[in-house]
Amino acid sequence: MIPRTTLRSTLFLALRRAGAIIRKNIDRSNKVLFKNKSRINLITWVDSACDRLIRDTIRRRFPDHDFLTEESVPTHNRASFKWIVDPLDGTTNFAHHFPQCCVSIGLEYEGEIILGGVYDPLREELFWAEKGRGAFLKTRKGTRRLRVSRTRRLTESLLLTGFPYDRRERIDLYLSYLRAFMAKIQGIRRAGAAALDLCWVACGRVDGYWEWRLKPWDVAAGKLIVEEAGGRVSDFSGRSFSIYGEQTLATNGYVHREMLRCFRRLDRG
Ligand code: IPD
Ligand code: CA
Ligand code: CA
Repeated sequence: MIPRTTLRSTLFLALRRAGAIIRKNIDRSNKVLFKNKSRINLITWVDSACDRLIRDTIRRRFPDHDFLTEESVPTHNRASFKWIVDPLDGTTNFAHHFPQCCVSIGLEYEGEIILGGVYDPLREELFWAEKGRGAFLKTRKGTRRLRVSRTRRLTESLLLTGFPYDRRERIDLYLSYLRAFMAKIQGIRRAGAAALDLCWVACGRVDGYWEWRLKPWDVAAGKLIVEEAGGRVSDFSGRSFSIYGEQTLATNGYVHREMLRCFRRLDRG
């Protein structure tokens, strides 16, 4: 078995190396390409450079491990370990010099996420968690344990959400959710980097977060960080969460049932 400390130090190194590229380039004008015809799913050279650097860093230590990353073809080594990587989460923000983006890396072992880290290079905040051992935030000042907020009711809550890249086709559906929650809560934000949205639930800056159609690399690390910080993650019906599924609802646990009730009401139309 690989020592936990070796996995963790590799994770931190990969996160920090990619984060340094993002930090250095966010205020520059970076050429933007488009992944789809609607020109809302962007990619820059920084996404690809971070992807390459992360894979090289991890591969140097673990040449046989598998990868599922946003910007490259998945590997199929049949390894027990799979690194699930979003090399730059928040590309639209990055391309507009809007300072909210991060690197996200989760490690799956035999189908279960056992380690995850999300690095915000602009605030120099490194969120991480190990299965069964807690969630932590590492900054220049030191490391502290993460706990979700204690907000008990939706009327006292601040929520985050996001809109997926198919929003032009499903705009009415996404707005119906926004409308329903907006009527009940203190405030709602759309920050633009799903992995950080999850970490902000974990550290209590917000009380809940929902989004449709995220990808495994958006949520692999953040799901573990929320759960290890005492929060709850499920789909919109309250069923157990899969990083390969369509719906993400992450909360401090206390407001979860109330949010599920809203989703149920919306489902019934
Ligand atoms: C996106 C961001 C955004 C979310 C999108 C994601 P990307 O990831 O996390 O907040 O709303 O659904 O795809 O493309 O910037 O890595
Ligand atoms: Ca992403
Ligand atoms: Ca990305």
